[in-house]
Amino acid sequence: MVMIQEARKYQAFYTKSTPIVDYMVSKLSLKNDDKIFEPCGGDGVFIETILDVNEFANIDVCELNEGAFNILQNKFAKYSTVHIRQCDTLLDNDLIFNSNFGGVYDKIIANPPYGAWQDYDKRDKLKKLFPNLYAKETYALFLFRCIELLKNGGILSFIIPDTFLNLHTHKAIRQHILTKTKVVELALFPSSFFPGVNFGYANLSIITLQKSDNKNENLNNQFRVVNSFTNVEQLSDTTDKQLKTFSFLQSEVLANPDHAFLISDNSKVALAINNTKLKVGDIANCVTGFYSGDDKTFLQVNSTDLKNGKNYALVDANSINRDYQNIPNILDGIEGEKHFLPIVKGGNIKYLKPEGWFMNWSKEAVKHYKTDKKARFQNPQFYFKFGVGVPMISSASITASLIENKLFDQSIVGIFPKDEALTYYLLAFFNSPICNTIIRTINPSANNPANYIKKIPFIMPDEKNLKTITSRVKEILSSIKANTMYDERIETDIHTLFKTLYGF
Ligand SMILES: C[S@@+](CC[C@H](N)C(=O)[O-])C[C@H]1O[C@@H](n2cnc3c(N)ncnc32)[C@H](O)[C@@H]1O
Repeated sequence: MVMIQEARKYQAFYTKSTPIVDYMVSKLSLKNDDKIFEPCGGDGVFIETILDVNEFANIDVCELNEGAFNILQNKFAKYSTVHIRQCDTLLDNDLIFNSNFGGVYDKIIANPPYGAWQDYDKRDKLKKLFPNLYAKETYALFLFRCIELLKNGGILSFIIPDTFLNLHTHKAIRQHILTKTKVVELALFPSSFFPGVNFGYANLSIITLQKSDNKNENLNNQFRVVNSFTNVEQLSDTTDKQLKTFSFLQSEVLANPDHAFLISDNSKVALAINNTKLKVGDIANCVTGFYSGDDKTFLQVNSTDLKNGKNYALVDANSINRDYQNIPNILDGIEGEKHFLPIVKGGNIKYLKPEGWFMNWSKEAVKHYKTDKKARFQNPQFYFKFGVGVPMISSASITASLIENKLFDQSIVGIFPKDEALTYYLLAFFNSPICNTIIRTINPSANNPANYIKKIPFIMPDEKNLKTITSRVKEILSSIKANTMYDERIETDIHTLFKTLYGF
């Protein structure tokens, strides 16, 4: 436990991946007489790899944590050219001095702390030292400090989250990179390549750049971005044909809004998520549905052939109430025989789910739901309303189906637009690949809880687009209701329209 707390405090997640370390060291193009800096020593993986190449390498190391510092000192005691100090790379006076005088290092390599906890006193100092930077994400401060510490022509390689590429808060570091350095290469890959730790970030990046005091040359620098890695070993050859490579001019990136690196579809999506004014949560209520607390007792099926329906009792057709919308105080349950109501459950079916599940909605049953500990009588104001249901768990892609004034269960997020005219538009949107890309960028797992759905950027359609999408999705619904296959070209048309509306 103490170890974990220490790790969190110092963000001591070490680079235990040979392909990553080898790639970063190779990017430095080391020379024998290079003066090298490792600003966040950790347990010394980068130092070891550099010494493997050149046992007389001249390396300065900083490490804040006393325990790690002691280990480093022992480990490298026999190397007279490795100088280890226990110090704070961001606040150390010698480093500040060297930064202000144009830098002293030929090469710098780092896996800096990403969001290390800072006490208030330190935060104040950092804000004064790095007034334009976003101090909460410490890695940007380390990157800035290290660019300053490089000599003109010096090279650094950093492994950091990819959020600096397009988050609004990192605008200043982007401007600094684009004007004060030449980007050599940018490799983007999933954080799962980094063993053992989940940072809560979708992606990591390794940025290699060369400091240069010639702004014109920097702006005319063309750099490579490599992504689509399927395994970490591909870092050993970033010219591999299976990887996607993009080429950009720094002046182009500088001209983008907020100097954002709009590298791939993915970064355009991230930009849309971060910069959108309107989100699904602003225009619709997104809520989780009902749970009886004991489905085996209260839930019934209209056919035992229904998927997962085997263990449930068959509903008696005479006990199904078809007129429930006209019953006053329906949230208190139904008197009499006809007290089973249709409920929409999870399962990935697009547009409209066939009826199959029925919930006991008798007065006694509802009383149970309202009082039982396991039951969830949550968000009842949305029960029996017209909206869209998105299963909490997606199989391949996110799907959505209509909730036609039915009950919906807790495996579904019900989406109820404040303006009902948007319901069919939302139904089409939540079945589109664009929506899937966005939600998987917000949350790469297969889960779609209400809080993530609320964050999806929403584009308010003009009247013409709203009409087109509404009528096209209604065509699909009519086919499904008539038990016929819908024309997939209609779906393609809708998807194309969303692509145009979202611009990626
Ligand atoms: C993410 S680890 C990386 C360690 C090592 N370079 C690696 O890649 O395995 C970051 C290291 O930086 C140290 N650290 C955190 N804040 C620091 C600071 N302000 N100055 C110097 N070192 C710091 C932590 O104690 C930790 O060992």
